Amino acid sequence: MAQDLQASAASKDSAATSSAKPVVAPGQDPDARADRTLAQMTHEEKVSLLHGSMLLLVAPAQRPQGVQNGAGYIAGVPRLGVPMQVQTDASLGVSNMGQRAGDVATALPSGLMLASTWNPDVLEAGGRMIGSEARAKGFNVMLAGGVNLVRDPRAGRNFEYLGEDPLLAGTLVGHQIRGIQSARIISTIKHFALNDQETGRNVLSVNMGESAMRESDLLAFQIGLEVGDPGSVMCSYNRINGVYACENKFLLTDVLRRDWGFKGYVMSDWGAVHSVGALTAGLDQQSGEQIDTKRWFSVELKKSLADGTIPESAVYLAARRILRSIYAHGLADTPLSMNGAIDYAAHAKVARDAAAEGIVLLKNEGALLPLAQTAKRIAVIGSRADLGVTAGGGSSSVTPVGGWKLQVKAAKGPAAMFSRKGYGGTTLVSALQAAFPGAEVVFDDGTDPARAAGVAKSADLVLVVAEKWATEAEDNADISLPDGQDAMIEAVASANPRTIVALEIGNPVLMPWAAKVPAILSIWFPGQDGASALADVLVGKVNPSGHLPMTFPASLSQLPHAIVPGSDAPLADKATRAVYGLNSDTKPFEMSYPEGSDVGYRWYDAKQAKPLYPFGYGLSYTTFRYDTLKVSGGRALSATFTVTNTGDREGAAVPQVYVRAPGKAKRLIGWAKPKLRAGESRTITVTADPRVIGNFDATAQRWVVPAGTYVVELGSSATDVSATAKVKLQRATRKP
Ligand code: BGC
Repeated sequence: MAQDLQASAASKDSAATSSAKPVVAPGQDPDARADRTLAQMTHEEKVSLLHGSMLLLVAPAQRPQGVQNGAGYIAGVPRLGVPMQVQTDASLGVSNMGQRAGDVATALPSGLMLASTWNPDVLEAGGRMIGSEARAKGFNVMLAGGVNLVRDPRAGRNFEYLGEDPLLAGTLVGHQIRGIQSARIISTIKHFALNDQETGRNVLSVNMGESAMRESDLLAFQIGLEVGDPGSVMCSYNRINGVYACENKFLLTDVLRRDWGFKGYVMSDWGAVHSVGALTAGLDQQSGEQIDTKRWFSVELKKSLADGTIPESAVYLAARRILRSIYAHGLADTPLSMNGAIDYAAHAKVARDAAAEGIVLLKNEGALLPLAQTAKRIAVIGSRADLGVTAGGGSSSVTPVGGWKLQVKAAKGPAAMFSRKGYGGTTLVSALQAAFPGAEVVFDDGTDPARAAGVAKSADLVLVVAEKWATEAEDNADISLPDGQDAMIEAVASANPRTIVALEIGNPVLMPWAAKVPAILSIWFPGQDGASALADVLVGKVNPSGHLPMTFPASLSQLPHAIVPGSDAPLADKATRAVYGLNSDTKPFEMSYPEGSDVGYRWYDAKQAKPLYPFGYGLSYTTFRYDTLKVSGGRALSATFTVTNTGDREGAAVPQVYVRAPGKAKRLIGWAKPKLRAGESRTITVTADPRVIGNFDATAQRWVVPAGTYVVELGSSATDVSATAKVKLQRATRKP
């Protein structure tokens, strides 16, 4: 019933939006515009802003005209010029999980690959590209800005996110959001908060002290909000200290609004609302309401307003926050249109450039790379490198330009309902053929190691493409390459010593064969033209400059958790699933993170554990010297140093500065990415944000940088240190 009302309200809307004028003129203060519109709105109109629907679940005859089919939509108020909100995923391109038959979009590399660039400009350019495609397809709200911290290398959604460090991830996501919103679109930042694994995502409770969360996951959001100013925050599925994120007053009201001054609105994740009381806790909009157990912000809200358990002022406040973002981000002044022009050729270059900068060269023994283009017969072995590259599964999945060449059901658990493994974009076989004109490029899928070894033997160069897929809604059980690929690589490398391994991965993997192959590259999920980017790196047209945004463990035993928490939890019965939501199959459970705020490299530092490859690591075809480190302390910490390209070709360095507070694990305080010609030097200064070097004092409710001697380290990764200095700091505090 409510669904029908929503649908018919939206049908009227589409006809009217184009002609209606916004009641408050563009250019005026968004708060003033929101207030003036609100003064003219009926109660029903205000409530209509508070709940959204999934078109996919609306019967075709009931569907409103002129609404693009994506993740969801919210009816507008045509008589007042308030536009519909038409929502799509997400951070890697305009996604399409079958909502729009035949539609394609430019597919960027995975989030981890974007983060490997350590370059905010790449994220911003990608954001601008996605925003303009979304606009051209008829969307004005993007469910982008995924910045959950990578805590476990088995987590299924890490590929969407931006790594394990709050400063790096927060800065990068802020730039991505800036880019997206430049197209007069509202972007979210998500999933708030501590939704760092998929197993039991709808039922688990992450139990964590306030200081630990403020210094880690929340800090990434805080920085992202400051840099990117997103119009909306999406609250997550999980519970935090026993309370669902979408009804968590501490998170949504105390931290987000009181402490951080967020002026936009909070929308729920799809199926993440569990009560009408979420409204007074700080949630403003129930998304995709058909997949929650109840229509909390429409049907149930009506009852609660009638019996006085929810005050009318809560509706006013939520509607006001939504309207404010609509005005602040230009939605009311930019009509929706589904047929905008898209310059796919220009956008393909954005995707290819991002991939070229995000490829991480992990090993290059004997300077095998870059390759002279002399090979006569090249064997490409593994994955479906003859059909395309793969991408992570789930709501972020973008059907690349050219479409999928193959889609397979690879998920087994909750993701099986909606997630497919696809292959598309430029193929590695064709990219290598283009890079080595005149050479014969042969392909073998690697499923039979003996046959693959035979193919390798007959070639004078071998590229193995090893793959480990990942998807939303499921975690991986381990960090090993599946399906016998380790044995295949051993066999191939034994048959031909000129074997290069490209890892097409959503997470780090173990490499038991690493000593046997001279060159290894992480190409992540490289996006629609990542294959060409790899070819450019292999032949030296591009000098690799990617650095790892997360630690590659040397073994599973190094991880804070032996198994993914909850992966041994009992399966939920039907009744439990009905209460807790659609896409979780375990019974509710609680978990904690032993590492607290010492996420990723800090955990390895604290435990003195040696990873396979450290956070921040990445090789180049040139060499760099980092020296003349000078530090200054007192009330603020800054470090000045010189980077010199000591090799014989141009390249980009990623010098990183870490600080160790007395008795604490090291923390990244800043980095740069200078592009230097051979012999060129650059002087760089990095200043520490007190929140990065300090601690959050939960009792005093402020950040505290204790007085003491701090150790500053300059290096090319979290463990490769070129210079160290000590500096004395005075005690300093900062508001939350
Ligand atoms: C995901 C969100 C996504 C939403 C809408 C959910 O399953 O967790 O990231 O934005 O679906 O597609």
